[in-house]
Amino acid sequence: MKFLLTCLAWLEAIAKNEIIKQWWTIVEVKDRLIFFEWPKELMAKINLWSRVGNKLYIVLHERKNTDNFDTLYDDVYNIDWKKYLNRYYPVIVKATSIKSTLSSTPAIQKITKKAIVDKMTNKSGKMMPEESDKPIFEVFTFFMDDSAYILLNTSGETLYKRWYKADTGEAPIKESLAAALVILSNWKYSENFYDIFCGSGTIAIEAVMFARNIAPGLYRYFSFENWNLLPQWYFDELRKEAKEKIFPKKYSVIASDIDEEVLEKARINAKNAKVDDSITFLKKDFKEYKYEKMTGTLLSNPPYGLRLKDDDLRGMYKDINMILDKNKELSGGIITAYTDFDHLINLNHYKKRKLYNGNELCYFYAKK
Ligand SMILES: C[S@@+](CC[C@H](N)C(=O)[O-])C[C@H]1O[C@@H](n2cnc3c(N)ncnc32)[C@H](O)[C@@H]1O
Repeated sequence: MKFLLTCLAWLEAIAKNEIIKQWWTIVEVKDRLIFFEWPKELMAKINLWSRVGNKLYIVLHERKNTDNFDTLYDDVYNIDWKKYLNRYYPVIVKATSIKSTLSSTPAIQKITKKAIVDKMTNKSGKMMPEESDKPIFEVFTFFMDDSAYILLNTSGETLYKRWYKADTGEAPIKESLAAALVILSNWKYSENFYDIFCGSGTIAIEAVMFARNIAPGLYRYFSFENWNLLPQWYFDELRKEAKEKIFPKKYSVIASDIDEEVLEKARINAKNAKVDDSITFLKKDFKEYKYEKMTGTLLSNPPYGLRLKDDDLRGMYKDINMILDKNKELSGGIITAYTDFDHLINLNHYKKRKLYNGNELCYFYAKK
């Protein structure tokens, strides 16, 4: 069976390595897309274990040079939909088109949906349900350079929506990006880990989840659980196995923020994630760290938005640079969309890496 795992831009290499860790057959890596072949049972594994993936799809069909709606209709109609879908459950169709002759996404959605309904109802004219309290099947028709991919979403909600997030502060970092940064930071688990602008705690929580080997999808639901494709016992077994793989060790993670309200949310999130015993949350202005010796790893996502005046931002980023510079043994770095940081620091001391937090371009300045 062929699969496609999507991810944020520039995280392809990490997403690919996660797949290789579980299995080994990589077919193709493109911008934000990783295609690979797997036995169907293992779709459960990647949904459960991928920290940086967005959604895992089954590739039901693909064809190059799809430049007319008749071909699209026929290709969709010819898929054995009854193998995957349930006549009495709603199907939603999403579409994206990049550099392709068929560029109208509403039209692509309409044709795809028509072909699915015709096949599922034997062209009887009876409609499948549009809305109901039953689980939803999500089909994604994706065009790129005139290649058409008909995809079935096995994940449901995006994988970065972890179960532990009860609430967030302003400008939270995506869990998948936070996890990727933890991987890139090379944190040695026996050492301290700091997030000095922790907000709702995402980076600190993902760090402990990674160290403790807690599967990021352990307590959430996936779309494929509604299908007949995999027996429920298989996934129950996988979840049980994942629970047995958790290391019960404690770690030294210090997460601080100036805002008590957002810290309260972070504490709740950490408790939900069952990592609160390893994180010390502190109400603290980051400037206080200027006078402390820090060792281990620092990974933070400082503010950069419009709410701060330019001078305040400059001052803040100068101080951040001072903290990173002064503590020579500290590894890690900061992720920010504040590009003026380049002018405040000695770029020779950092490795600058382009990343996206959702659609927002930002940079990870990793200490060399
Ligand atoms: C971009 S948000 C961090 C979001 C966080 N990564 C998350 O996922 O929720 C920046 C955070 O910096 C905090 N902050 C602003 N000024 C600060 C200061 N002087 N010292 C410490 N934290 C500060 C804000 O309260 C905010 O929570």
